[in-house]
Amino acid sequence: MSKKEYKRYLVTSALPYANGPVHIGHLAGVYVPSDIYVRYLRLRGRDVIWVCGSDEHGVPITIKARKEGVTPQDVVDKYNAIIKSSFEGLGISFDIYSRTTSPTHYKTASEFFRTLYDKGVFSEATSKQYYDEEAKTFLADRYIMGTCPHCQAEGAYGDQCEKCGSTLNPTDLINPKSMISGSAPVMKETTHWYLPLDKYEPKLREWILEGHKEWKSNVYGQCKSWMDLGLQPRAVSRDLNWGIPVPVEGAEGKVLYVWFDAPIGYISATKDLTPDWEKYWKSEDTKLVHFIGKDNIVFHCIVFPAMLMAHGDYILPENVPANEFLNLEGDKISTSRNWAVWLNEYLEDMPGKQDVLRYVLCANAPETKDNDFTWKDYQARNNNELVAVLGNFVNRALVLTHKYYGGVVPEAGELNDYDKEILAELPRIKVALEENLENYRFREALKEAMNIARLGNKYLADTEPWKVVKTDPERVKTILNVALQIVANTAVAIEPFMPFSAEKLLRMLAIEKIDWEQIGSSNIVEAGHTISTPELLFEKIEDDVIERQVKKLDDAKRANEAANAKVAEQKDSVSFDDFGKMDIRVSTVVAAEKVAKTKKLLKLTVDTGIDTRTIVSGIAEYYTPEELVGRQILVLVNLLPRELKGITSEGMILMASDATGKLTLLAPEQNVPNGSQVG
Ligand code: MF3
Ligand code: ZN
Repeated sequence: MSKKEYKRYLVTSALPYANGPVHIGHLAGVYVPSDIYVRYLRLRGRDVIWVCGSDEHGVPITIKARKEGVTPQDVVDKYNAIIKSSFEGLGISFDIYSRTTSPTHYKTASEFFRTLYDKGVFSEATSKQYYDEEAKTFLADRYIMGTCPHCQAEGAYGDQCEKCGSTLNPTDLINPKSMISGSAPVMKETTHWYLPLDKYEPKLREWILEGHKEWKSNVYGQCKSWMDLGLQPRAVSRDLNWGIPVPVEGAEGKVLYVWFDAPIGYISATKDLTPDWEKYWKSEDTKLVHFIGKDNIVFHCIVFPAMLMAHGDYILPENVPANEFLNLEGDKISTSRNWAVWLNEYLEDMPGKQDVLRYVLCANAPETKDNDFTWKDYQARNNNELVAVLGNFVNRALVLTHKYYGGVVPEAGELNDYDKEILAELPRIKVALEENLENYRFREALKEAMNIARLGNKYLADTEPWKVVKTDPERVKTILNVALQIVANTAVAIEPFMPFSAEKLLRMLAIEKIDWEQIGSSNIVEAGHTISTPELLFEKIEDDVIERQVKKLDDAKRANEAANAKVAEQKDSVSFDDFGKMDIRVSTVVAAEKVAKTKKLLKLTVDTGIDTRTIVSGIAEYYTPEELVGRQILVLVNLLPRELKGITSEGMILMASDATGKLTLLAPEQNVPNGSQVG
């Protein structure tokens, strides 16, 4: 553990790629912990700035743009706006949220490259790469598709086969095709600049393996195994038409590799934030901390520090508290498979529940190992911890103060031993809370903050003021005074984790601000002070709310499977006459009910225009009876009647079935009279 005294803090959080919204995995891994850390530092009055922004270069953004028929700039403009406002919605309190397409960043990154170039840091090497002669462009690995040499699947990418999971080189592909023009690419020579990581290896080894043994073991371990494999020079330029041009003559068509420019974005963002930026980046008494996910470790602990060492003007990170991954309902979160809880959608679906998500993601943060988010756990933590412990304690203390004293804080009489014992816990919790926060153990820290509320809950349960009021009203004054002091302690202690609730709590206490230093004190709320009307801090989340979220995930999974599944083969030919034998009519559902003891069947009464009849249909998994009544559908009316579960079904309802078997009703594009013929 470095014992150094720092004058100021510079905190960075990984710049999210602007090719999709932010999801709970990003939040649990990076943004919630860093927000907690920074809010804590601010509460302690430390000099801290916190920078972030969108990472707007790289191949995936160009691929997304091509797919959607828009420009890469359109893609990043769209997602930068979504990401920025959803972060704000969750109370993620960056001092600046910048972008790597900003003019400051172009200048900063170009100058950085140029400094290293002029110092002779880079080596230059020529290699052969795939080139699309029709589109006149070199092809990034992701832009080449072909047959996988391992599993023979078609549509494997130049860097990976998603079917069998093997890592590939573009030259491994059988029958490679350019995704831009569809033509077969040719090999062509290209020159790139390389950062000679091998030369920095001794310095990096000493700095990390000797100097930072206190880093989290997952981070330290990954760095060590990388270095034990031997570091290789890494290309810092790419042939691509989206990115920051390589600022060297003759480098037309080449841009900085996204992982070269993105971390420099931390510096650019700081420049955009304050003219004092050099104080933060260039003084040894600044503590630089990078918050990232585990897939970013090598870039933040090895590549970027090597760049900083090569440059020479900048400090190195003091810590890189990377987290592991958060899974979702037992499955790896995936943007491309749409298996995620997206922050922007969460904020829409669950208004006013920012702190619930913050709480669950922190309580469940993947700090030392991968962890799982489930909606059931979300519900349980809300109902059993936030409502039952925190909300319940606060509410009882405030409501009783109103009930007995009209909202005026009563004067405490003499404290008894039990009161003293309870209050003596507060300073102890403060020490543990701080110790954990300073050392990036946010789950433990949150537990300590909740322990204050737990303590208060226990205090009220043990002292039972609602009973004592009948026998010893003087004693109740003391009890409620003590309880309110604990409420005030809670309000400050939860602020880093649940800022919305902390604010609400202060409002209820009618206190503008409580200093962090006051945690541990039993004299925060003065006797005679009038508190405001209590509101509920948290409310119980019912099953149906959770079921809706689970269904949303299931639907996303199905839709994704359907999109990837093979379309059924065409059936044997039929004659026009054969087709003409089918009598299909527009009909209206007039009644619907579940068939008892079955999961899939509904009994429908339909008006076919010819008659009103009964049809049994296997759509109960997809439609409720209420949804169906009144709707127009298509019915094959001359199908021979069949007996199903003792009911005679006269006809068949036409439906589209996707490759996973999911059914969707077919209906006329506008209402037409029942009995209208289809064909
Ligand atoms: N965009 C990267 C990711 O989401 C993180 C970039 S961090 C930076 O994995 F340091 F390069 F900015
Ligand atoms: Zn394969």
